[in-house]
Amino acid sequence: MGSTATDSRPPFDFHGRTVFVAGGTSGINLGIADAYAAAGARVAVMSRDAARVEAACAQLARHGAEVYGRTGDVRDYAAVEDVLADVHARLGDIDVLVSGAAGNFLAKALDLSSNGFKVVVDIDLNGTFHVLRAAHRFLRKPGASIINISAPQSYNPAPMQVHACAAKAGLDQVMRVLALEWGEHGIRVNSIVPGPIAGTTGIQRLVSDEARATMAGRIPLRRLGALEDIAAMALFLGSPFASYVTGALIPVDGGISLLGGRHHANLE
Ligand code: HXC
Ligand code: NAP
Repeated sequence: MGSTATDSRPPFDFHGRTVFVAGGTSGINLGIADAYAAAGARVAVMSRDAARVEAACAQLARHGAEVYGRTGDVRDYAAVEDVLADVHARLGDIDVLVSGAAGNFLAKALDLSSNGFKVVVDIDLNGTFHVLRAAHRFLRKPGASIINISAPQSYNPAPMQVHACAAKAGLDQVMRVLALEWGEHGIRVNSIVPGPIAGTTGIQRLVSDEARATMAGRIPLRRLGALEDIAAMALFLGSPFASYVTGALIPVDGGISLLGGRHHANLE
């Protein structure tokens, strides 16, 4: 039931544009980087693991686009700043900035140490602030588009997800405040809220194989999402078609957010 965005990938053209994706070496974020590379953009990605960075660059390069990868941890502000300065020196002003690095696991609050809570907040929330704050001076002004990757847990409380719920809720407010502050610089700031996306680390960590089938049957559109569903929204947000869109939290989730938080975790 239902078709994916693959069937009709929008004909966006990003030749001559520069895109930076924090956490862009796997899953949803790599799907976004890949869509931009396919649309002709120069694409840079950053994550912690050198082998992943190398593999992602090889994947992106097959589109013939200019590609650059650097290792770095979004928890380290100085490292993020260094990577962004390097990307800017090589690829020019950044037109589209995607902040999608995240960490997650299922744990009840009483099984979560202070450090377990902190590590997820450090990656998702503090890391996103680092990426956006450090990137500001390298963004095209006017015209840049910032895209944060949120999650339905930011507004639907989900048991065993207190760390991710808190982090993603904070991330949404970072998005809104910076949309207010940076609008006058001609910078748009928005968040995509992916639903459960098939084949990703996130869904593998949070939902068992068995529960995944049940989940798909409950989603209003009756399927898990695909990487292309999220990439299509990211292309739109980076394009001139979205030039009056800022401060928006945009679910791309087949309608699962309408069902509430218990459907986001493997609780059965
Ligand atoms: C309880 C846990 C735990 C678990 C880790 N911790 N896993 N606590 N249950 N399953 C605790 C550890 O005990 C430790 O606390 C603290 O968390 C830090 O763990 P480290 O392994 O030292 O951290 P680090 O190496 O920095 O790794 C961070 C990580 C890791 C988040 C724990 O899993 C990671 O790097 N993940 C990145 C990939 C990822 O998670 N992708 C999924 C994104 S999906 P103590 O007290 O022992 O020191 C997503 C949303 C999906 O975000 C939404 C779907 C609908
Ligand atoms: P994923 O494959 O695990 O991707 C996470 C990426 O972030 C990886 O490239 C990882 O690479 C990088 N990363 C992790 N910690 C980092 C750090 N400290 N510094 C720099 N990079 C770091 O995850 P995914 O499931 O595709 O999820 C991607 C995004 O979508 C996340 O923001 C997630 O919250 C959101 N989301 C996912 C789903 C889903 O169904 N999967 C649903 C809703 C929202 P390294 O390990 O090399 O660092």
